Amino acid sequence: MRLKGKHIILGVTGSIAAYKAAYLLRGLVKEGAEVQVVMTPAAKEFITPVTMSALSSRPVASEFFAANDGTWHSHVDMGQWADLMLIAPITAATIGKMVAGLADNLLVTTYMSAKCPVYIAPAMDLDMFAHPSTLKNLEILQSYGNIILEPGEGELASGLHGKGRMMEPDRIIDEVVKSFDSKKKLLTKKVLVTAGPTYEKIDPVRFIGNYSSGKMGFAIAEELANQGAEVTLVTGPVSLSVNHPNIKRVNVESASEMLKASKSVFPEMDAAVMCAAVADYKPANITSQKIKRKEDEMSIELEATKDIAATLGSIKKENQLLVGFALETQDELKNAAGKLQRKNLDFIVLNSLQDKGAGFGVVTNKITILSKDNKAQEFELKQKTEVAADIVEKIVEELGNL
Ligand code: C5P
Repeated sequence: MRLKGKHIILGVTGSIAAYKAAYLLRGLVKEGAEVQVVMTPAAKEFITPVTMSALSSRPVASEFFAANDGTWHSHVDMGQWADLMLIAPITAATIGKMVAGLADNLLVTTYMSAKCPVYIAPAMDLDMFAHPSTLKNLEILQSYGNIILEPGEGELASGLHGKGRMMEPDRIIDEVVKSFDSKKKLLTKKVLVTAGPTYEKIDPVRFIGNYSSGKMGFAIAEELANQGAEVTLVTGPVSLSVNHPNIKRVNVESASEMLKASKSVFPEMDAAVMCAAVADYKPANITSQKIKRKEDEMSIELEATKDIAATLGSIKKENQLLVGFALETQDELKNAAGKLQRKNLDFIVLNSLQDKGAGFGVVTNKITILSKDNKAQEFELKQKTEVAADIVEKIVEELGNL
């Protein structure tokens, strides 16, 4: 799923290669993209909108006015929605219209409203492709910043042999993926994330745990992976799933298992984000049999667990970044600053349980990032996925400063 969550407009124009647009669309959707198809009137002569809407699970946009009820397709909204626009196949006619700004159909108006990168894959007969007007127009489109996916040489639908075959759909998809990759900020970086609670066994059926859902850590792992990082996600017991090719998940239960898993991968990491709510204490002895109820009081002797963040902080090298979390109920900034220093962190993300909508279990969070130089950066209450993006942005910035 190399295009998960990406918004792509697929423009199709009236070339015989339009039949390949169905295969292309299928490939984009398989890679996880959400695709809005826009067809010119001529494209519909070559391939039916039914095929394209079925494959994209969305109605095809083609006419300015969708129905005779006063509604219309907004090319402006589509242009804003898209992360990338791809016109494949594109004819000499549409190329000419785009050069001249001849916005007489929905595809060209959408093109002119699009703020995203635009890729075009020409497909036409060899003489049309070689014509000075086509070549000149392509040069102009290139000067507008559009990217030309060069047609190949080979047998053409007309029976002639030459340059004009649309680039093969699989290669087009690779180019689209590459375009998103080039914007990723953490390619080649390896990052460890700890997440979730730990369970400390008391006896075979009981444990000491906490309310951590793992949502924040998982959101951070996903955002790091979306930025191209290779992520090792060491997680305590949570009911979350993760499906990203860049994330390697390691399931653990106790603090000591989490420490062992984290320590063994840390030397090869560029950064580590300590998001887990690790137990501070564990039962000194785990009884092998279920503890029986007694009439009088009972107590469990606890011993301190080892601090994972502090352990990694003590072996951290200069080119490694260590990020911690602090969940505080009082004297937030002072306590967070103390942890930052004690654990040898590079920055600490503070969330206060006093803030409504922040903390365990909920989907929102409100954070303050405290840096080593004691600078505090406050953020608004946001969705955890957006908070993750802010934290990852800070990681990108700090890795650049190491
Ligand atoms: O000291 P406190 O538990 O509040 O510190 C929180 C930070 O330290 C978090 O980043 C948490 O993941 C990390 N931590 C840890 N190992 C522990 C306790 C806390 O990594 N045993």
